[in-house]
Amino acid sequence: GLPARVTICEVGPRDGLQNEARPLPAEVKAEFIERLVDAGHTVVEATSFVHPKWVPQLADAEELLGRLTFADGVRYPVLVPNERGLDRALALGVRDIAVFASATETFARRNLNRTVDESLTMFGPVVERARREDVRVRAYLSMCFGDPWEGEVPAQRVVDVAKRLMAMGCTELSLGDTIGVATPGRVAALLGALTAEGIGIGDIAVHFHDTYGQALANTLTALQHGVTTVDASAGGLGGCPYAKSATGNLATEDLLWQLAGLGIETGVDLRKLIDTSVWMAEHLGRPSPSRTVTALAEE
Ligand code: HMG
Ligand code: MG
Repeated sequence: GLPARVTICEVGPRDGLQNEARPLPAEVKAEFIERLVDAGHTVVEATSFVHPKWVPQLADAEELLGRLTFADGVRYPVLVPNERGLDRALALGVRDIAVFASATETFARRNLNRTVDESLTMFGPVVERARREDVRVRAYLSMCFGDPWEGEVPAQRVVDVAKRLMAMGCTELSLGDTIGVATPGRVAALLGALTAEGIGIGDIAVHFHDTYGQALANTLTALQHGVTTVDASAGGLGGCPYAKSATGNLATEDLLWQLAGLGIETGVDLRKLIDTSVWMAEHLGRPSPSRTVTALAEE
C-alpha cells in the first residue's frame, strides 16, 4: 500500500543552488526559502557550512541564516562535513544538520578529500556532539546505485556504510542517487537489503536526481516499500559540483502532481510552489526543467 502522508525534504536552496554558475545574492536566497515555507514546506534544507572554496555558491551561509525568520514547526537543516562546520552552524542556532558520506571511494575523495573510512572518522565527533545537544542528524549517502568513475555500485557496499552511519547515531538516512542512474528494480532491491540488515524503513529517505527521467518511478517504488520522506528540489534545480553528470533533483512540482493524484497529503501548495519556481527561473535566467512547472506556468 501507499502512505497517507509524505514529508518532502525541500533541497532547492542547497542542492539546487550549490551548482549555479551565477551567484545569487543572499537576500534572493532568503526570499526563496521564505516562499518555500509559505507554500507549506516544513523541511527546507537551507545551505551548507562547508569550506567556502569548495562550494563558493554557499559561502554566504552565515549571512543567509541571519536573514531568515525561523517559522514555528519548520526545520531548516544545513550540511555540515566536520567540526568546524558544526561550530559555525551551532553558533547560529541550527537544530538540524546533515553529514554526507559516499558509498564509493572516488566520490569520497572528490567531495570530501577523504577515503570513505576517513570521512566516517571525520563525522563521528560531529554526530556525537550534535546528538548531545539534541540536534537531529540526517546522513546522506551518495552514489547508492552508480558512480561516474566506478560504475555500478553493489547494494552491499551501500548497506555497509549505511549501517556505520546509523550506528554513529544519525537519525535519518537519505539514499542519494547522485547521478540519477537508478531504476525501480534496483531501488526495491536496495531497500530490501537495508531493512534486512535492521535499518528501519521509517528512518530512510530517498534522494533522486532525474538525469535519466527515472526519479518519479523510483520515488513511487520507494513509497510502495514504505518510505515516507522524499527529497525534492523546487523547479528541479540542482546538480553536484563534485559529481560529473549529475543533473537536477526530482522537481518538487512533479512530485506534488503525482502525490496529489494518488491522494497522498504533503501540506504543500502546488500553485504557490510553481509561482516560486517561475520567480526563481527569472533570477537564474533560464526556465525550470520541471514538466509540471512548464505545463502550469501562467503566461
Ligand atoms: P580539506 O581541504 O581536506 O579541509 O577539505 P581540512 O580539514 O584539511 O581543512 C583545511 C582548511 O579549511 C582549514 O583552514 C579549515 O579550518 C578550513 P586552515 O586551518 O588551513 O586555515 N575548513 C573550513 N572552513 C569553513 N567551514 C568548514 C571548514 N572545514 C575546514 N566546514 C572539507 C575537507 C570537508 C572541508 C571539504 O572537502 C568540503 O568542504 N567539502 C564539501 C563538498 C560539498 O559541499 N559537496 C556538495 C554536497 S554533497 C552532495 O551534493 C550530494 C547530496 O546532494 C546527495 C546526493 O545527491 O548524493 C548531499
Ligand atoms: Mg543531491
